[in-house]
Amino acid sequence: MSSTVLVTGGLGYIGSHTVVALIEAGHRPVIVDDLSNSSIAVLDAIASLTGTRPTFCQLDVADRGALTAVFDDENIDSVIHFAGLKAVGESVEHPLRYYVTNYGATLSLLSEMMAQGVHDLVFSSSATVYGVTETVPIDEDAPLGAINPYGATKLGIEGMLEDVASTGGWRIALLRYFNPVGAHPSGAIGEDPAGIPNNLMPYLMQVAVGRREQLMVFGDDYDTPDGTGIRDYIHVMDLAEGHLAALDHLREGCRAFNLGTGAGASVLDVLAAASLAVGEAIPYVIAPRRAGDAACVYADVTRARSELDFSATRTLEEMCVDHWRWQSLHPYGFAGPDTVESL
Ligand code: NAD
Ligand code: WQD
Repeated sequence: MSSTVLVTGGLGYIGSHTVVALIEAGHRPVIVDDLSNSSIAVLDAIASLTGTRPTFCQLDVADRGALTAVFDDENIDSVIHFAGLKAVGESVEHPLRYYVTNYGATLSLLSEMMAQGVHDLVFSSSATVYGVTETVPIDEDAPLGAINPYGATKLGIEGMLEDVASTGGWRIALLRYFNPVGAHPSGAIGEDPAGIPNNLMPYLMQVAVGRREQLMVFGDDYDTPDGTGIRDYIHVMDLAEGHLAALDHLREGCRAFNLGTGAGASVLDVLAAASLAVGEAIPYVIAPRRAGDAACVYADVTRARSELDFSATRTLEEMCVDHWRWQSLHPYGFAGPDTVESL
């Protein structure tokens, strides 16, 4: 059934792909984004990809008055809440920034939803809520713990949403993403990190496109088959479809779901698949371990499969091919070389 979905942070990496999926499924997304980590060019790209230019309001979700105006004007049925800060390292350096932004936006949004009688919510959580765990696969009942301020905000917001849902009438899905990578197969939208990428895939793609010299592989002495860290990479198009499945299967209360593939790939596996996609070897060096990294993290995806009827289908090869198409078409992202630092 078609519905109007407020998408906070809808011009960001995961939000923009989800907006495309929503439009293609016949929904009407209404995007709010303050453009703090995205470009207005994403809206044009969504319009040319889908033939529909979604309603967009540039605002900070923490600005309750601006949010009220959107709810008053747009007849919102449900909300997908992506907006927030997400860089682990930055959160350690500037913890207050993370608490203020991530809690502030969520408190404003929840208060407005309560006032407007909108009680259906899908929230972007993260596998980071599992802390550093040695037991894989990780299911949703695994112990929770934050190891940095970013993770603390995700964990805190999950708790906040459980409390709100316990008052009755709310239908909330907490989606714990594992490692989102890849891009829309057109190459028209994709991940566009500001500054030096924190994550493996955008970093190695910037090496491949000539913006950085080499990848540093953080440790080759882990207790894994090739000694490098193992993660559960999920194609952003699969992730986008996971949001549609979550919206379709919202139930009374608050329920957490892992969104991953259920399989792990090592850093060297990703390097090999990315090199194939790019068509040449991507230079790398082995570097010391990165503080706080676990050896091996992948999801138990049983709950999403059985309760949301959702399974990721795209392979690591597709993730790399699609990410590379985006990166090679937009070597400097949406901003262009003049406004982006190079090496
Ligand atoms: P992103 O930075 O690309 O997208 C977030 C968007 O929200 C940006 O467009 C930004 O401009 C906007 N935004 C930030 N604060 C805002 C505010 N106060 N008001 C309005 N707009 C605001 O990030 P992403 O990778 O698309 O991540 C989306 C969500 O998923 C985040 O909540 C993130 O924590 C979560 N998540 C991401 C990953 C990942 O690896 N990308 C993994 C797990 C969870
Ligand atoms: C993956 C693997 C690294 C970079 C992070 C956040 C998590 C979530 C997803 C938001 C690890 C190795 C990395 C590099 C490398 N984000 N690596 N060289 O750490 O699993 O998760 O992103 O919620 O909260 O912590 O992802 O992409 O940083 O690392 O060798 O330059 O690649 O050591 O084994 P991670 P990642």
